[in-house]
Amino acid sequence: MKSLITIVLCFFTLLFAQAQDGHDLWLRPVKAKTVNVSCKKNSATLSIAKQELVDRWQGENNATVTLDIKKDKALKNDGFRLGKNSVNANTDIGILYGVYELLRRQQTGEPINNDVDNPSYEVRTLDHWDNLNGTIERGYAGNSIFWRKEDPFTVTEKDKTLWQQYARANASIGINASVLDNVNASPLILNADYLNRAKEIANVLRPYGIKVYLAVNFASPTTLGKLKTADPLDTAVIGWWKNKVKEIYSLIPDFGGFLVKASSEGQPGPQNYGRTHADGANMLADALKPYGGIVMWRAFVYSANNEDRAKQAYDEFMPLDGKFRDNVIIQVKNGPIDFQPREPFSPLFGAMKKTSVMPEFQVTMEYLGHANYLVFLSTMWEECLKSDTYQQGKGSTVTRCTDGSIYPQKHTAIAGVSNVGLDVNWNGYQFNQANWYAFGRLAWNNTLKSEQIADEWIKLTFYGDSSQKSSETNYAAGWNQNFLVPVKKMMMESREAAVNFMTPLGLHHIMSARGHYGPGPWWAPKGVRPDWTPPYFHQASASGIGFDRTTKGSDAVSQYHEPLASELNNVATCPEKFLLWFHHLPWDYKMKNGRTLWAALCYHYEEGVNQVREFQKVWDKAGPYVDSTRFMEVQRKLRIQCVNAILWKDACTLYFQQFSKMPIPYELERPVNNLDEIIENDRGDGQSH
Ligand code: GCU
Repeated sequence: MKSLITIVLCFFTLLFAQAQDGHDLWLRPVKAKTVNVSCKKNSATLSIAKQELVDRWQGENNATVTLDIKKDKALKNDGFRLGKNSVNANTDIGILYGVYELLRRQQTGEPINNDVDNPSYEVRTLDHWDNLNGTIERGYAGNSIFWRKEDPFTVTEKDKTLWQQYARANASIGINASVLDNVNASPLILNADYLNRAKEIANVLRPYGIKVYLAVNFASPTTLGKLKTADPLDTAVIGWWKNKVKEIYSLIPDFGGFLVKASSEGQPGPQNYGRTHADGANMLADALKPYGGIVMWRAFVYSANNEDRAKQAYDEFMPLDGKFRDNVIIQVKNGPIDFQPREPFSPLFGAMKKTSVMPEFQVTMEYLGHANYLVFLSTMWEECLKSDTYQQGKGSTVTRCTDGSIYPQKHTAIAGVSNVGLDVNWNGYQFNQANWYAFGRLAWNNTLKSEQIADEWIKLTFYGDSSQKSSETNYAAGWNQNFLVPVKKMMMESREAAVNFMTPLGLHHIMSARGHYGPGPWWAPKGVRPDWTPPYFHQASASGIGFDRTTKGSDAVSQYHEPLASELNNVATCPEKFLLWFHHLPWDYKMKNGRTLWAALCYHYEEGVNQVREFQKVWDKAGPYVDSTRFMEVQRKLRIQCVNAILWKDACTLYFQQFSKMPIPYELERPVNNLDEIIENDRGDGQSH
């Protein structure tokens, strides 16, 4: 198998006329062989499929490829069947997906054996947190590709080209939906001018099989429609939404539906009017139903009360199980708090039985170093997807609880909060492109292994750089051994490294309030609600550290099914990676390896720094195989990451040492930063969280 890959890679020649600025993502131009395409039908989507084959064919020279749209019971939704020289599907877009898969396999040297490939989820969406003035909430790759402040409603050829490139990148990995605006939605998105621009975007995205969705503000009937209320049971409000939906479908006939953040972090919602999430979601769902639209209703809710924040979403949504329309899907973040470097899976997965639930992952790296850290998020998502909820006994993984395998769901979906911006390389960092790629691949096939995804991405993104400096006679073998293997290993370890130097052993939410970037376990200004402050989450004191979520504490463990609930509740069986998420323990608590909890913490921080230092070496050695632009960019970013990893280590160990009163184990590196100076440098926007 290995030799086959080597041979295929050897034959696969890439041509690079332009510098490697990353704009081509995993779709770099290739020198194509000749191919004849036979397809009886015509459509915009099929034209793209044919063109891609002609432009990128790496199979047999002069082969004839048949694209066939015919009913095949083995194929679901937009799935496809692949032969060496054929793609069959039920739909045009299925053909396009099959073509991309065929070309990808040719390029990476994977076998093609009459395989059937069906998507795990019906809706595979990127949620853009893009504001209408062009900025992006938690965006680290420049401004929005969809909206801008100056001349906001003119659609230029440049806009269209960019949207088309974006659509192509998405289609090539199976993404079929885009939410065009921020969940903290402006009512203005439903104004005619913005809807017209959304229509223009939809027109460009359509041939690539991508439907457009909009995030909407629940109070829009009052702010935009000048009604007295946005109460979802009010007939005028119901009428207003119906008319608005009708207007949208007159512009965008295949409009996908709404995404709603309601009654959360200051966003209005049905609870403002004494109604439930179900009342609000169903009202919108009823308006969309005649057109086939859906509502993705977010479960990211927590109010300022004394209840453990990790429990609140479950507490609000569980009583509503069975009350939602079948075109409502509850969108649940992977963990119960907020996209932290590591969280246990949200107990809302595997909880409700009569309500559709979808996972929401964050592709943009809000809590993971923005566009500066090399963190391959696929391993984090895989950890969540593979987690066993025990909803229907052993094997009730998050994948099976969300893709309709356990309880039937009328609609299934998965969302990734996008990291796309106007930067030339789209994502602010070459390695962040891997996360966009991985999200699409996992959304298509939720059982794919991260290692496989990393393997594909590295080959597609880096193999055969003409500007590479290696002069080996057997380039492919050298590349495999000196680039692919170590870089893949680095990617596979990268998330654990970040957890180690940021939030080891189940710590969470101890980041700086300034942009959620550096460390900030001390941050707790007077008057700020406690569940926005790190001390609420780490609970460090002379007695120990960690949030007691056992039955003796907040009892969040009881939101999980047995036997998991008991496993987490018992300190002896709780996985150490979640120890301080579920337990408050004394500093001298003995870990499985015999170290004290304090020493174990220090070791994890040190390990995280060492891992990043190792990544620097891996990358430097990989240098001969990468063009200098991309090589230097990654080198620079790794240096930044390394400096920050040391800062995290020093800040957290010195801060927690004030409570543990124990020495940092003497065999470990000494801090090189002073705590008071780190805190002083961190002072800034006091009120953000
Ligand atoms: C986080 C993030 C916010 C975002 C929110 C959400 O809290 O910091 O910027 O609006 O998640 O997911 O709604």
